Amino acid sequence: MIDALTTNKTSFFREIQHFIFLREQILPKLPKKQLRIWSAACSSGEEPYSIAILLAESLPNFKNWDTRILATDISTKVLAKAKEAVYETEILEPIPQDWRQKYFKKEDPQGKTWRLAPELRNLISLARLNFMEKFPMRGPFDVIFCRNAMIYFDKPTQEMLVRRFYDLIAPGGYLFVGHSESLTGAKHDFKYIQPAIYQK
Ligand SMILES: C[S@@+](CC[C@H](N)C(=O)[O-])C[C@H]1O[C@@H](n2cnc3c(N)ncnc32)[C@H](O)[C@@H]1O
Repeated sequence: MIDALTTNKTSFFREIQHFIFLREQILPKLPKKQLRIWSAACSSGEEPYSIAILLAESLPNFKNWDTRILATDISTKVLAKAKEAVYETEILEPIPQDWRQKYFKKEDPQGKTWRLAPELRNLISLARLNFMEKFPMRGPFDVIFCRNAMIYFDKPTQEMLVRRFYDLIAPGGYLFVGHSESLTGAKHDFKYIQPAIYQK
């Protein structure tokens, strides 16, 4: 029923400004080689895997970093797809060609489907989580992506969620929301940085 009611639409490097901001404004300023990111409402994995690819491409000596990405969704169906990490060629189109070659391996002889490399898959912990229930994790996160999911909720529910995200974000950390879901008019303690980007 959940799957029938909600859309799972997503894509690699969707809303590219968030990835540019992450690469240019957040990664170079991290105080230590440690990073915690939560992709909340991750759908079929394109969002957390885009983050993983970007980190592998942007962090110097990436292998020496303590990096973890938590990826959650309410739908077990999309989580199963995310766990497989197998995507059709057309789905990979937003990923630059050289990154595609580096991080994906053919899953079938014709090259119609591709699987993300295990070293990037292993960065992600997938789990089922309903925003309406208690959050089991303690944080803190450097960045929370909660994009294109809050749009389904009324204002009081959005405010409640944003408050819970605030509590889990490290001081100076960021919340990314979908570009059609600005927090304008909602009560919150974040500092507005640029469209769809907020800082604690
Ligand atoms: C449109 S997708 C967004 C995917 C990705 N964040 C993006 O922006 O590309 C919305 C996702 O929110 C999830 N979702 C809807 N209601 C939820 C809830 N109450 N708790 C957690 N996830 C939820 C859906 O299952 C769906 O995968």
